[in-house]
Amino acid sequence: MCCKVKVDNLKVENQVNPMGIDILKPRFSWTILSSNHNVLQTAYHIIVTDEQGIKVWNSNKVETDQSVWIEYNGSPLQSRTRYSWQVKIWDNHGNETDWSVPQNLEMGLLCKEDWLAAWIEPEQQEAVEEAEITVQDIFSGALKEESLEERTKNLHPPKRLRRLFTINKTVKKARLYMTSHGIYKLELNGRKLENIEFAPDFTAYNVHLQYQTYDVTGYINKGENALGVELADGWYIGRIQLTGHSCQYGNKLGVLLQLEIELEDGTKEIITSDEQFVSSSGPWQYADLFIGESYDARLEQENWSCAEYDAAEWTPVKRAEYSLGNLSAQYGPVVKAMEEIAPREIHYEEDGAQIIDFGQVIAGRMRIQMTVPRDTRIIFEHSEVLDENGKFFMNIMGRNKDQTNFYVAKGDDRETYEPSFVFHGFRYVRVTGHPTPIQTEDITAVVLYSDMEMTGNFTCSDERLNRLQQNIQWSQKTNMLSIPTDCPQRERAGWTGDIQVFAPTAAYNMDVSSFLTRWLKDVRLEQFPDGQIANYVPTGKYYVSESKASFGNLSSAGWGDAIIIVPWVLYERYGDTRILEENYTAMTKWLNYVRQTAESEIPDSLKDEQDAVRLNRQKYLWNTGFHFGDWLIPSMKDPIESALKTKELVATCFYANSALLLAKISIILGKKETAAMYEELNQQIRKAFEEEYIDKNGRVSSPTQGIYILALQMNMVSDSKRPLVVNQLAQLIKENGYKLDTGFLSIPYLMDVLCKEGEHETAYRLLFQTQCPSWLYEVENGATTIWESWSAIAPDGTVGYMSFNHYAFGCVGDWLYRYIAGINPGEPGYKTSIIEPHTDCGLTSAAAEINTKYGKLSSSWTKTDNLVTLIVEVPANTTATVVLSHKSNIRLNGTVLENDENERLQNQIGSGSYQFDFADNYVPQS
Ligand code: BGC
Repeated sequence: MCCKVKVDNLKVENQVNPMGIDILKPRFSWTILSSNHNVLQTAYHIIVTDEQGIKVWNSNKVETDQSVWIEYNGSPLQSRTRYSWQVKIWDNHGNETDWSVPQNLEMGLLCKEDWLAAWIEPEQQEAVEEAEITVQDIFSGALKEESLEERTKNLHPPKRLRRLFTINKTVKKARLYMTSHGIYKLELNGRKLENIEFAPDFTAYNVHLQYQTYDVTGYINKGENALGVELADGWYIGRIQLTGHSCQYGNKLGVLLQLEIELEDGTKEIITSDEQFVSSSGPWQYADLFIGESYDARLEQENWSCAEYDAAEWTPVKRAEYSLGNLSAQYGPVVKAMEEIAPREIHYEEDGAQIIDFGQVIAGRMRIQMTVPRDTRIIFEHSEVLDENGKFFMNIMGRNKDQTNFYVAKGDDRETYEPSFVFHGFRYVRVTGHPTPIQTEDITAVVLYSDMEMTGNFTCSDERLNRLQQNIQWSQKTNMLSIPTDCPQRERAGWTGDIQVFAPTAAYNMDVSSFLTRWLKDVRLEQFPDGQIANYVPTGKYYVSESKASFGNLSSAGWGDAIIIVPWVLYERYGDTRILEENYTAMTKWLNYVRQTAESEIPDSLKDEQDAVRLNRQKYLWNTGFHFGDWLIPSMKDPIESALKTKELVATCFYANSALLLAKISIILGKKETAAMYEELNQQIRKAFEEEYIDKNGRVSSPTQGIYILALQMNMVSDSKRPLVVNQLAQLIKENGYKLDTGFLSIPYLMDVLCKEGEHETAYRLLFQTQCPSWLYEVENGATTIWESWSAIAPDGTVGYMSFNHYAFGCVGDWLYRYIAGINPGEPGYKTSIIEPHTDCGLTSAAAEINTKYGKLSSSWTKTDNLVTLIVEVPANTTATVVLSHKSNIRLNGTVLENDENERLQNQIGSGSYQFDFADNYVPQS
């Protein structure tokens, strides 16, 4: 026994004490704390016991250094059972830890038969389905203008449901399992349950509907009890996505719940959703996630979820038949109110409206306290930006994007209003009808996102880059509300391309592993039979017809490839191999679809081609159909132009890239022959690409910065032509005045490609550029999140009808962590890491730290003249290689180290903290 080493941060399936999971082989992880250096685990011992204290798994001592994702290997875990687990470890210094403090793991309802409850539906007017429209209709202005009043007059109100039950004995344990059609909130005996918003989360409901498990032991009284549910349209019925279409999953609100109460005397009571529930409309006229809500405080029903409330007027509910086949337990984080922000400024506009500026673009809603006469009607409109004259400006186009709430006051002294079933993307709130000046202490912005741990940060000596990093984190937090979205106002859709681009950055800033694992389940469940992966997931009922009408295709290069790239990032950053196994079939189906398309189709322009060699190589080129291409290239004013001009080359690059990744994944999963087949395919595609698209001067047939970047990054260029291609790219950037002209798909690789090809000076110039388009242009123009378009506010001050909160272009964050601060993953999950900071970048200091699955890994350097001090911290049970190039006088904790013959130092270190000192001899070119 010893006390120098201990296990900490015990998790199961990435959660502390998970409640109600349905993973039959959950995985255990821990970190190791030690005051020693060079600590490696040599063995572990896990014991799992059930509620009776019976051991269901005794791993015994397992000699291994594995301390993350250890799969349960005991007797089958049982429904609704709470298990307790402990671990101890041994290390390479001969230490054996104490047993950890016991942790819990509780299973949910593991099979359909466990559900005794039936779906119930309150009496309601069925939701009205809206007309189908295309994307073109939205942007061509062809949509019929309808007032908000007209559009909302048919919306149905949220519902309240309640049921009484009596418990006459002492409660030992009570669990509530629950889900809904729509989004819900729960109350028991007048008390709200936990800080959970928008349960049951947004998933592909028809095939995947999550139920949540609540510990309600302390909520139940001896005697009469009341259970209350509030239900609103949410994503199930409400208007969602770009086209603002309703009823994508159904048109009726419903509830499925089961309350299981174990009593001290060993008996059990089960209360289910049944005909004993009654329902009523609450104070809302409607509540729609996108449009907003209308709330009349005069209709509030005080104590509606208490037993003594008189519900004589409430109406009976009906049982409804739905299959339970789509149910699964909540996996990963729920949405919560995560932060609050006070206003920065409040001012009046000429018409008497008050504009509240919260100083930060967010996703969420506001809470206001007020004392106003009864019947006062107040309007709250939300927007991300003011116009060029400083006036309130609705920056979002499209159908049903109002983000407007109506409130009628009851006239109480200091009444509080916070909408329940809506969220908005905003920084500014325009308040109309509030009779007195609003005081800053009376209004607050409530920030909502999925409850994930912030795991990383990057800071440096340039405050503008620090703001950029904060903007990236803000765009991440506020676009990770239930699913990874493009933006939290206009579409709020799980665009596969956006997260594909952003996932590496996301995985530095936050622990996104369970969040993206859940979303990937929907991506594969919604894969089309021919292997296509949807452009956004969850898709909804109109996906196929709208995509065909709008684009002619159901998938796009660089978007569908998310099924390969996102699991790969999760494997690399978190060391999770199961994510590769789970998605492998979907990956191969996607690549087969691409392959078949490439092999069977040729572009119209080649229909009369006679050159047999050229015709023959077409089968390796994915050069037909619509793709979003290198989406949103700044110099092309129409996004569709950037799609059409780049799609052919972009698609083929992604085809090659995915084939290579799939080869690597196949090797990891032990499928060597398949790996060889994909490797061979990758080579053929690359060869065909070069022959078809790159001329003898290294010029590509549709020259944009992005195509050169992708061609270099994805090795579509032979070694002999590489310098020529690099030259073309450098030339284009120079001609563009060292400003960005890259779209969504190429930007993640821009800085890496330049730095790898010896153009790091060019990369630094792009990084510090302040003219439009550039990252710091946005920062210097007051951005608090990442904009959809670099010129969302143009240099002449014109404010665009764009989203001001799209994380895609924030993917440079990954490079800041990796290249400037120098933290790179080595073996998956940072079991090993490579610390290679670039102290020649023009900054005088930079620091990054990330909370890996093994613990804190950090790299921080400061530079005075040319003397650099680098502090590296490596978590226990991992090692790191510190790589320094072109440095002299290198010392490690005071001891002199020698460079190799290439002026490169590679020094392996174990866990602990280290100080390197050296001279950086790089002299920037003027
Ligand atoms: C979304 C994107 C998305 C794109 C497809 C847009 O409307 O906001 O972020 O990836 O469409 O090109």
